[in-house]
Amino acid sequence: VVVNLEAVRHNIGIVRQRVGPQCHIAAVVKANGYGHGAVPVARACLEAGADMLCVTLTAQAAELRQQFPEARILVFSPLSPSEVQASVALDLTPTVEDLGTLELVDREAAARGKVVKVHLQVDTGMSRTGIRPEEAARFMRQAGQCRHVDFEGIYSHFASADSEDLTFARRQMALFNGVVAEIAGLGVEFHLRHMANSAAVLALPESHLDMVRPGVMIYGLKPAPHLGEGLEPAMTVLSHILKLKTVPAGTPVSYGCTYRCSRQQEIATVPMGYADGYRRGLSNRFHVVVRGQRAPVVGRVCMDMFMADVTDVPGVEQGDEVLILGKRDGQCVPAEDMAGRLGTINYEIVTGISRRIPRLYVGA
Ligand SMILES: Cc1ncc(COP(=O)(O)O)c(C=O)c1O
Repeated sequence: VVVNLEAVRHNIGIVRQRVGPQCHIAAVVKANGYGHGAVPVARACLEAGADMLCVTLTAQAAELRQQFPEARILVFSPLSPSEVQASVALDLTPTVEDLGTLELVDREAAARGKVVKVHLQVDTGMSRTGIRPEEAARFMRQAGQCRHVDFEGIYSHFASADSEDLTFARRQMALFNGVVAEIAGLGVEFHLRHMANSAAVLALPESHLDMVRPGVMIYGLKPAPHLGEGLEPAMTVLSHILKLKTVPAGTPVSYGCTYRCSRQQEIATVPMGYADGYRRGLSNRFHVVVRGQRAPVVGRVCMDMFMADVTDVPGVEQGDEVLILGKRDGQCVPAEDMAGRLGTINYEIVTGISRRIPRLYVGA
């Protein structure tokens, strides 16, 4: 897996163009940087002007903290009581949405002589994490007693900003702004109000507020087919022809003999399989690129290998490079195309490329 960090910096540049100089950018590097490697991607984002990093779990934030002692790191998943000590010790910025945990944070912060920044998440339409809008003001009133906690931020997450119809996204924004106004009525102002994921960065400028949280676009992937012109995909997955063989007409290929050669064919074995994230659903349904030519995947994808028909690739040889995903020498296998074949989204493709494939970083 080759990850181009110059592409990541370019994509952060696109976010900056969209949101202007004042808005904070919180780069989402959860799930090991969407499969690209959280630490190198985070470094590239910070170099390119990101103001904060976001992950889902305290454990992911702890890994980042080792490398980035000064970075601001927001943790999305609501803090659990068992994580309070680590979170405060590591100066993380947790999401806190229940009073019991908040009091623990307050106590831990007091013991360490700190004031801890936290964010409140409001559930305006995902029905996932976050406090219900009607409970937010009461929560903040009660939270006022915690003197070692600073509610730096308040946020919400869009369910459908990637849709062409933004009616529901606008309804979420209105709900969110209503909650912020209600809490302002209590005399509490948040320094960072944030809602926008990649799709909203691109499609909903009125949602940019004080900070945006782009994820998929910083990896150069489109949040939706109609959004994301000019992004540079950062990930390229390459393999090689491990074995090349000429087989006669009628020869079956792979488990279940689901493919049978219709003529004498050149079959290439590629050492990547579903255990690496090359999904079995691609069996007989997708292609790779060898020497600039498309070569269909033939037969079932195995755990560690799959086969491609390279009969029509002039001069093909054992050891030839195989482009699996991404861009190389003017050729492209977009994650979006692979996702389309599998009935899924590009997010699932890149996060599914397993850790056992070494990552090589270029453009550092
Ligand atoms: C809370 C939150 N904010 C921001 C993002 C980034 O979303 P995207 O990758 O669509 O930009 C995510 C990822 O799903 C998220 O869970």
